[in-house]
Amino acid sequence: MAELPAIEAAIWQQLARACHDRHHAWRTPVLATVDAQGLPEARTLVLREVEAATRRLWVYSDARAAKIAHLARQPRATLLAWSPRLHWQVRLKLRVTLHTRGLALASRWARVKLSPSASDYLSARAPGEPLDGTAPALLAEDRAQFAALEAEVLEIDWLELHRDGHRRARFDGHDACWLQA
Ligand SMILES: Cc1cc2nc3c(=O)[nH]c(=O)nc-3n(C[C@H](O)[C@H](O)[C@H](O)COP(=O)(O)O)c2cc1C
Repeated sequence: MAELPAIEAAIWQQLARACHDRHHAWRTPVLATVDAQGLPEARTLVLREVEAATRRLWVYSDARAAKIAHLARQPRATLLAWSPRLHWQVRLKLRVTLHTRGLALASRWARVKLSPSASDYLSARAPGEPLDGTAPALLAEDRAQFAALEAEVLEIDWLELHRDGHRRARFDGHDACWLQA
């Protein structure tokens, strides 16, 4: 059906908009991973970059965060976002490549280190580490624990809630099909 390509294009357009619009609900999706025991874990993060042409998304994290260890073991993950304005939910099936060094990382850190969020990656303590009452310390800038996650979108499961009938479709980069909502 001709409508499916238009819907897929609109999904990518909204994802791209979400990176730049602080008020877009898709700016803070939930990333689900599996831990070393095969148990699910999920957390909110900020969508930083979207490359529709290559079906890629980028998010940033502290390199010591649990999600990084999860993704190093199992690079398949799911990103979940719901927009009450669009009435659209998307579930993006991802294959994630971790960047903790190299050009892709350096170019992004060069930008981030000038922003207020730089301190997110300069804590002397790893995320989730118990606090012991001592004053929090910051790492030197050249020891920043900045990691960039490059996610290839393998599949999109789109759901539209509508009072006249919900619609659902799946896009895998090659094919698209309608699904029972
Ligand atoms: C609105 C919001 C935005 C967040 N953005 C990020 C982010 O961009 N990157 C990140 O690593 N954590 C972000 N967090 C924190 C994560 O949700 C999570 O608490 C932290 O990354 C540790 O997760 P982990 O132990 O599963 O790795 C955000 C949390 C909230 C509430």
